Amino acid sequence: MQGVRLAAPGGLEKLSATELPEAAPPGAGEISVRLHASSLNFHDYAVVAGMIPTEDGRIPMSDGAGVVEAVGEGVGEFAVGDAVVSTFFPYWLEGPARVGDFRTTPGDGVDGYARERVTRPAHWFTRQPKGYSHAEAATLTTAGLTAWRALVVDGGLKAGDTVLVLGTGGVSIFALQFARMMGARVIATSSSNEKLERLKELGAEHVINYRETPEWGKKVKELTGGEGVDHIVEVGGPMTLPQSIDAVKIGGHLALIGILTGREGDIPTAKLMAKQATLKGLIVGSRRDQVEMIRAIEASNLRPIIDREFGLTEIADAFRHQASGHHFGKICLTW
Ligand SMILES: NC(=O)c1ccc[n+]([C@@H]2O[C@H](COP(=O)([O-])OP(=O)(O)OC[C@H]3O[C@@H](n4cnc5c(N)ncnc54)[C@H](OP(=O)(O)O)[C@@H]3O)[C@@H](O)[C@H]2O)c1
Repeated sequence: MQGVRLAAPGGLEKLSATELPEAAPPGAGEISVRLHASSLNFHDYAVVAGMIPTEDGRIPMSDGAGVVEAVGEGVGEFAVGDAVVSTFFPYWLEGPARVGDFRTTPGDGVDGYARERVTRPAHWFTRQPKGYSHAEAATLTTAGLTAWRALVVDGGLKAGDTVLVLGTGGVSIFALQFARMMGARVIATSSSNEKLERLKELGAEHVINYRETPEWGKKVKELTGGEGVDHIVEVGGPMTLPQSIDAVKIGGHLALIGILTGREGDIPTAKLMAKQATLKGLIVGSRRDQVEMIRAIEASNLRPIIDREFGLTEIADAFRHQASGHHFGKICLTW
């Protein structure tokens, strides 16, 4: 079968489309899936660009969506023909977080989904939302579930709350959509005025160009009558966190998710303390969280925003498009 491998030490030129051994027939508790789509995340980029070292020959991509082709003995949850989507942490099924690294994550610690077929334990997948394309479903594994957990599972988002989302990448656009779906008000930022217009079309009440307004934390306070917002989906990290601390309400919630501006830096801890805000780190979510998110998506008809689709063999071009920062929402691979 066709697939993609990444040669060590990584780099987009080290990605190659290649013939892979056929997937084994499913054993007890396993399913075989004909994969049709994946979606690109910053984490996948970090792996393929060599920023996160992986094994030579690793099959990249954490997100995978497709159709069940065969089921092994004892599998009751899925049948042949079911549309399924992968989970980010295959062994974290439910309850509080149990994993703090990527050793079990497909496309990083183990082989991922840039290939035609895979045989895995059934619990590595959930069903897709009804009516979704495989590309739409593939956006849920990482970006969708991270935004869902930040706002709903950890944040306890309520109708009428205010939410700040930063930039227009996959996680942030999902966060905007989930916030609107739950009846919250959204303030959104971007470096591009054109993208700000699209954010308004998606339901952002206020938008801010974070390049033109470097003190956007103050601006968010002004826009909320001096109060600040209830929730912030913090995808930036050290360079944006001080502004986010300015922007959060007293007693608000900061979901610390991203490293777009680096991995460490100075944090105004006294200000955070005075805000009495919760700063909560998180990595994606459990299988149960994914099942509950899909249930909510079906009830609300939410559709992911896909910027562009590439073929599997165009994977390096897809990552170049992501690295350019021109995208709005998700970039997908389909085959
Ligand atoms: N903890 C987790 O579970 C988890 C899960 C998924 C992602 N992440 C992290 O979250 C971050 C975003 O991931 P993604 O996949 O959504 O990325 P992405 O789709 O590649 O998004 C990149 C976008 O972020 C915006 N951006 C860049 N620098 C910014 C800044 N200084 N301030 C505000 N926005 C900025 C830009 O938006 P504009 O073009 O509009 O300016 C850019 O287009 C990454 O650091 C990723 O590692 C973490």
